[in-house]
Amino acid sequence: MASALRRPLLAGNWKMNLTLTQSVELARLVVSGANTASGEVAVFVPFTAIAVVAETLKGSPVRLGAQDCYWEASGAFTGEVSVSQVSDAGGQMVLIGHSERRKLFGETDDHVNKKLGAALKGGLTPVVCIGETLEERESQKTWRVLETQIAGGLKGFAPADLAKVVVAYEPVWAIGTGKTASPAQAQEAHAFIRQQLKNIHEGFASGCRILYGGSVTADNVDALMAQADVDGALVGGASLKKDFLRIM
Ligand code: PGA
Repeated sequence: MASALRRPLLAGNWKMNLTLTQSVELARLVVSGANTASGEVAVFVPFTAIAVVAETLKGSPVRLGAQDCYWEASGAFTGEVSVSQVSDAGGQMVLIGHSERRKLFGETDDHVNKKLGAALKGGLTPVVCIGETLEERESQKTWRVLETQIAGGLKGFAPADLAKVVVAYEPVWAIGTGKTASPAQAQEAHAFIRQQLKNIHEGFASGCRILYGGSVTADNVDALMAQADVDGALVGGASLKKDFLRIM
């Protein structure tokens, strides 16, 4: 069981799915289960749905986030969305450096670092995503990859600035594949990540929530959450279904 210092966070990442009507329906479903949830609940929705979902979530404990943000405040950056636009629409949190952003859109640790700076400055709670590919795991590079992503993504901040940061460990080989990391594999990686965070600051490391993501379902979430360093889950596919209620 994770430390009492850290309130569990169960987060749904809707990715590029759902119409506005479907988004409102799903948000209502999440609200219906949130009061009895065993931790904090959040949904990360497409930019276009933030405002309507914010309306639906009003008065509920469910937190709302965007799936990305840009680091500049405003200007000629066609297609990008700033932190202040996310908050203006009702977003309180933001995913940064999701592996799909890294793999499909060329995001680097440097981009992650700039986005993190913008999110913290703008008052959003950032969820920084890290994780190794299958090739990296098979060639024994997992620890080096995680170390590099943490060092690059989180560099240059004072520990006090990082207090709100959430980290999500999402092994790329487990995302959308149905191949979840075993509870032991997840714990091993989370403990390693917490050790890396300790190198930044002891107090930050013990309070920082580290979520597991990658094919989380209602059937495997309990065993994952039973691990000492697993403080929650970032759920993709299963967050679009009634399954998410059972996960909560
Ligand atoms: P998945 O996605 O649960 O569908 O594997 C997780 C994620 O990408 O955040």
